Amino acid sequence: MKSNDGTTAAKRRAGESAADRVSDGEVVGLGTGSTAAHAIRALGRAVDGGLDVWGIPTSYQSRALAREVGIPLTTLEDATPDVAIDGADQAAPLGGGDATADGFSDADGAVLVKGGGAAHAREKVVDAAADRLLVVVDESKLASAPDHPVPVEVLSDATPTVRERVVDIGGEPTLRAAERKDGPVVTDNGNLVLDCDFGPIEAAGDLATRLDAVPGVVAHGLFVDLAEELHVGMGDDTAVYEF
Ligand code: A5P
Repeated sequence: MKSNDGTTAAKRRAGESAADRVSDGEVVGLGTGSTAAHAIRALGRAVDGGLDVWGIPTSYQSRALAREVGIPLTTLEDATPDVAIDGADQAAPLGGGDATADGFSDADGAVLVKGGGAAHAREKVVDAAADRLLVVVDESKLASAPDHPVPVEVLSDATPTVRERVVDIGGEPTLRAAERKDGPVVTDNGNLVLDCDFGPIEAAGDLATRLDAVPGVVAHGLFVDLAEELHVGMGDDTAVYEF
Protein backbone atom coordinates (compact mmCIF):
# COMPACT_ATOMS: atom_id res chain seq x y z
CA MET A 1 0.00 0.00 0.00
CA LYS A 2 1.36 3.47 -0.88
CA SER A 3 1.79 5.79 2.11
CA ASN A 4 -0.77 8.18 0.65
CA ASP A 5 -3.32 5.37 0.64
CA GLY A 6 -2.36 4.66 4.25
CA THR A 7 -3.04 8.28 5.19
CA THR A 8 -6.38 8.24 3.41
CA ALA A 9 -7.36 5.05 5.23
CA ALA A 10 -6.28 6.54 8.59
CA LYS A 11 -8.33 9.69 7.92
CA ARG A 12 -11.32 7.55 7.01
CA ARG A 13 -10.98 5.51 10.22
CA ALA A 14 -10.82 8.68 12.33
CA GLY A 15 -13.82 10.23 10.57
CA GLU A 16 -15.94 7.10 10.86
CA SER A 17 -14.97 6.62 14.50
CA ALA A 18 -16.28 10.10 15.35
CA ALA A 19 -19.42 9.71 13.23
CA ASP A 20 -20.22 6.59 15.25
CA ARG A 21 -20.48 8.77 18.37
CA VAL A 22 -23.37 10.80 16.97
CA SER A 23 -26.76 9.86 18.43
CA ASP A 24 -30.23 9.91 16.97
CA GLY A 25 -31.83 13.34 17.19
CA GLU A 26 -28.59 15.31 17.45
CA VAL A 27 -27.60 18.47 15.59
CA VAL A 28 -24.07 18.07 14.21
CA GLY A 29 -21.54 20.73 13.24
CA LEU A 30 -19.93 19.57 10.02
CA GLY A 31 -16.24 20.47 9.81
CA THR A 32 -14.20 21.11 6.70
CA GLY A 33 -11.31 19.23 5.09
CA SER A 34 -10.52 15.74 3.86
CA THR A 35 -10.80 14.01 7.27
CA ALA A 36 -14.05 15.67 8.31
CA ALA A 37 -15.36 14.72 4.85
CA HIS A 38 -15.05 11.05 5.80
CA ALA A 39 -17.23 11.73 8.85
CA ILE A 40 -19.79 13.56 6.70
CA ARG A 41 -19.94 10.63 4.27
CA ALA A 42 -20.35 8.19 7.18
CA LEU A 43 -23.16 10.32 8.60
CA GLY A 44 -24.80 10.38 5.18
CA ARG A 45 -24.78 6.57 5.13
CA ALA A 46 -26.22 6.53 8.65
CA VAL A 47 -28.98 8.93 7.57
CA ASP A 48 -29.75 6.54 4.70
CA GLY A 49 -30.06 3.84 7.35
CA GLY A 50 -32.55 5.88 9.38
CA LEU A 51 -30.45 8.08 11.70
CA ASP A 52 -32.26 11.34 12.38
CA VAL A 53 -29.69 14.16 12.50
CA TRP A 54 -29.38 17.72 11.24
CA GLY A 55 -26.10 19.23 10.09
CA ILE A 56 -24.69 22.73 10.41
CA PRO A 57 -21.95 23.14 7.78
CA THR A 58 -18.81 25.18 8.38
CA SER A 59 -17.99 25.99 4.75
CA TYR A 60 -19.15 25.93 1.15
CA GLN A 61 -17.35 22.57 0.83
CA SER A 62 -18.99 20.88 3.82
CA ARG A 63 -22.41 22.22 2.83
CA ALA A 64 -22.04 20.83 -0.70
CA LEU A 65 -20.88 17.42 0.57
CA ALA A 66 -23.66 17.21 3.18
CA ARG A 67 -26.25 17.97 0.51
CA GLU A 68 -24.71 15.36 -1.79
CA VAL A 69 -24.89 12.62 0.86
CA GLY A 70 -28.38 13.59 2.04
CA ILE A 71 -27.81 15.12 5.49
CA PRO A 72 -30.63 17.58 6.26
CA LEU A 73 -29.20 21.01 7.09
CA THR A 74 -30.02 23.72 9.57
CA THR A 75 -28.34 26.91 10.81
CA LEU A 76 -27.14 28.41 14.07
CA GLU A 77 -30.22 30.66 13.94
CA ASP A 78 -32.48 27.64 14.28
CA ALA A 79 -30.48 25.12 16.31
CA THR A 80 -27.53 24.68 18.65
CA PRO A 81 -25.11 21.89 17.72
CA ASP A 82 -24.99 19.03 20.22
CA VAL A 83 -21.74 17.87 18.71
CA ALA A 84 -19.29 19.01 16.04
CA ILE A 85 -16.82 16.86 14.10
CA ASP A 86 -13.82 18.66 12.67
CA GLY A 87 -10.30 18.00 11.42
CA ALA A 88 -7.05 19.79 12.25
CA ASP A 89 -3.73 20.53 10.61
CA GLN A 90 -1.95 19.79 13.87
CA ALA A 91 -2.94 18.57 17.34
CA ALA A 92 -0.76 18.83 20.44
CA PRO A 93 -1.43 17.96 24.10
CA LEU A 94 -2.45 21.04 26.10
CA GLY A 95 0.64 22.13 28.04
CA GLY A 96 2.98 19.97 25.95
CA GLY A 97 3.76 16.27 25.99
CA ASP A 98 4.71 13.33 23.89
CA ALA A 99 4.11 13.74 20.14
CA THR A 100 2.55 10.29 19.88
CA ALA A 101 -1.05 9.31 20.39
CA ASP A 102 0.00 8.12 23.87
CA GLY A 103 1.03 11.68 24.72
CA PHE A 104 -2.65 12.54 24.89
CA SER A 105 -3.53 9.89 27.48
CA ASP A 106 -2.64 12.12 30.42
CA ALA A 107 -3.41 15.45 28.77
CA ASP A 108 -6.19 17.72 30.01
CA GLY A 109 -7.01 18.82 26.50
CA ALA A 110 -5.60 19.61 23.09
CA VAL A 111 -4.28 22.58 21.17
CA LEU A 112 -5.25 22.51 17.52
CA VAL A 113 -3.98 24.45 14.56
CA LYS A 114 -6.71 24.70 11.95
CA GLY A 115 -7.35 26.66 8.78
CA GLY A 116 -5.44 24.77 6.12
CA GLY A 117 -8.59 25.06 4.05
CA ALA A 118 -9.19 28.67 5.18
CA ALA A 119 -12.46 27.64 6.85
CA HIS A 120 -11.38 28.20 10.46
CA ALA A 121 -13.50 31.29 11.16
CA ARG A 122 -16.81 29.49 10.67
CA GLU A 123 -15.35 26.28 12.10
CA LYS A 124 -14.49 28.10 15.31
CA VAL A 125 -17.99 29.54 15.63
CA VAL A 126 -19.69 26.18 15.11
CA ASP A 127 -17.14 24.10 17.07
CA ALA A 128 -17.28 26.45 20.05
CA ALA A 129 -21.09 26.45 20.01
CA ALA A 130 -21.25 22.64 20.17
CA ASP A 131 -21.58 20.81 23.47
CA ARG A 132 -18.88 18.35 22.30
CA LEU A 133 -16.16 18.85 19.71
CA LEU A 134 -14.82 15.60 18.27
CA VAL A 135 -11.52 16.16 16.45
CA VAL A 136 -10.50 13.76 13.71
CA VAL A 137 -6.90 13.45 12.55
CA ASP A 138 -4.46 10.88 11.23
CA GLU A 139 -1.33 10.19 13.23
CA SER A 140 0.84 12.50 11.11
CA LYS A 141 -0.98 15.52 12.61
CA LEU A 142 0.23 14.90 16.17
CA ALA A 143 2.92 17.17 17.67
CA SER A 144 4.39 17.71 21.14
CA ALA A 145 4.00 21.48 20.73
CA PRO A 146 2.25 23.15 17.82
CA ASP A 147 4.65 24.58 15.25
CA HIS A 148 2.45 24.68 12.18
CA PRO A 149 2.03 28.25 10.83
CA VAL A 150 -1.16 29.72 12.28
CA PRO A 151 -3.69 30.79 9.64
CA VAL A 152 -5.09 34.23 10.47
CA GLU A 153 -8.15 35.41 8.54
CA VAL A 154 -7.99 39.19 8.12
CA LEU A 155 -10.15 41.94 6.70
CA SER A 156 -8.52 42.78 3.40
CA ASP A 157 -7.97 46.48 4.24
CA ALA A 158 -6.34 45.55 7.55
CA THR A 159 -3.73 43.24 6.03
CA PRO A 160 -0.79 45.71 6.35
CA THR A 161 -1.51 46.58 9.98
CA VAL A 162 -2.19 42.99 11.00
CA ARG A 163 1.10 41.98 9.36
CA GLU A 164 2.93 44.54 11.53
CA ARG A 165 1.26 43.36 14.72
CA VAL A 166 2.02 39.72 13.94
CA VAL A 167 5.71 40.59 13.48
CA ASP A 168 5.60 42.54 16.79
CA ILE A 169 4.43 39.43 18.61
CA GLY A 170 7.07 37.21 17.05
CA GLY A 171 5.45 35.78 13.92
CA GLU A 172 6.41 35.73 10.25
CA PRO A 173 3.28 36.37 8.19
CA THR A 174 2.85 35.20 4.59
CA LEU A 175 -0.19 36.13 2.54
CA ARG A 176 -1.74 32.87 1.33
CA ALA A 177 -1.66 32.72 -2.46
CA ALA A 178 -4.45 31.10 -4.43
CA GLU A 179 -3.91 28.17 -6.74
CA ARG A 180 -5.47 28.35 -10.20
CA LYS A 181 -6.35 32.01 -9.56
CA ASP A 182 -4.04 35.01 -9.64
CA GLY A 183 -3.62 36.75 -6.30
CA PRO A 184 -4.52 35.70 -2.77
CA VAL A 185 -6.91 33.12 -1.36
CA VAL A 186 -10.25 34.77 -0.61
CA THR A 187 -12.19 32.98 2.14
CA ASP A 188 -15.87 32.00 2.09
CA ASN A 189 -16.35 35.23 4.08
CA GLY A 190 -14.56 37.44 1.52
CA ASN A 191 -11.41 37.94 3.60
CA LEU A 192 -7.68 37.14 3.17
CA VAL A 193 -5.43 34.73 5.08
CA LEU A 194 -2.01 35.35 6.58
CA ASP A 195 -0.14 32.16 7.46
CA CYS A 196 1.87 33.20 10.51
CA ASP A 197 4.92 31.17 11.50
CA PHE A 198 5.68 31.48 15.22
CA GLY A 199 7.99 28.43 15.38
CA PRO A 200 7.20 26.04 18.25
CA ILE A 201 4.36 27.56 20.30
CA GLU A 202 4.83 27.00 24.03
CA ALA A 203 2.02 29.19 25.35
CA ALA A 204 -0.80 28.71 22.88
CA GLY A 205 -3.44 30.30 25.12
CA ASP A 206 -1.43 33.52 25.45
CA LEU A 207 -0.75 33.68 21.73
CA ALA A 208 -4.44 33.07 20.98
CA THR A 209 -5.40 35.95 23.29
CA ARG A 210 -2.87 38.28 21.66
CA LEU A 211 -4.04 37.44 18.15
CA ASP A 212 -7.69 37.86 19.17
CA ALA A 213 -6.85 41.41 20.29
CA VAL A 214 -5.43 42.58 16.94
CA PRO A 215 -7.88 44.88 15.10
CA GLY A 216 -8.71 43.45 11.69
CA VAL A 217 -8.25 39.82 12.72
CA VAL A 218 -11.46 37.95 11.97
CA ALA A 219 -10.31 34.62 13.40
CA HIS A 220 -7.08 32.71 13.87
CA GLY A 221 -6.55 28.99 13.59
CA LEU A 222 -5.49 28.26 17.19
CA PHE A 223 -8.24 26.24 18.88
CA VAL A 224 -7.15 25.97 22.51
CA ASP A 225 -8.87 23.46 24.79
CA LEU A 226 -12.04 23.25 22.68
CA ALA A 227 -11.79 19.53 21.88
CA GLU A 228 -13.73 17.05 23.97
CA GLU A 229 -12.49 13.99 22.09
CA LEU A 230 -9.55 13.31 19.76
CA HIS A 231 -9.95 10.45 17.26
CA VAL A 232 -6.55 9.50 15.84
CA GLY A 233 -6.62 7.25 12.79
CA MET A 234 -3.56 5.00 12.69
CA GLY A 235 -2.17 2.07 10.67
CA ASP A 236 -5.03 -0.30 11.32
CA ASP A 237 -7.12 1.13 14.13
CA THR A 238 -8.19 4.37 15.84
CA ALA A 239 -7.16 5.72 19.24
CA VAL A 240 -9.75 7.85 21.01
CA TYR A 241 -8.81 10.30 23.78
CA GLU A 242 -11.43 12.02 25.92
CA PHE A 243 -10.63 15.22 27.78
C1 A5P B 1 -10.10 23.76 7.21
O1 A5P B 1 -9.86 25.12 7.11
C2 A5P B 1 -9.20 23.18 8.23
O2 A5P B 1 -9.37 23.71 9.48
C3 A5P B 1 -9.24 21.67 8.23
O3 A5P B 1 -10.06 21.18 9.24
C4 A5P B 1 -7.85 21.20 8.40
O4 A5P B 1 -7.07 21.85 7.41
C5 A5P B 1 -7.71 19.70 8.27
O5 A5P B 1 -7.89 19.31 6.94
P1 A5P B 1 -7.54 17.83 6.45
O6 A5P B 1 -8.42 16.91 7.23
O7 A5P B 1 -7.87 17.85 4.99
O8 A5P B 1 -6.10 17.59 6.70
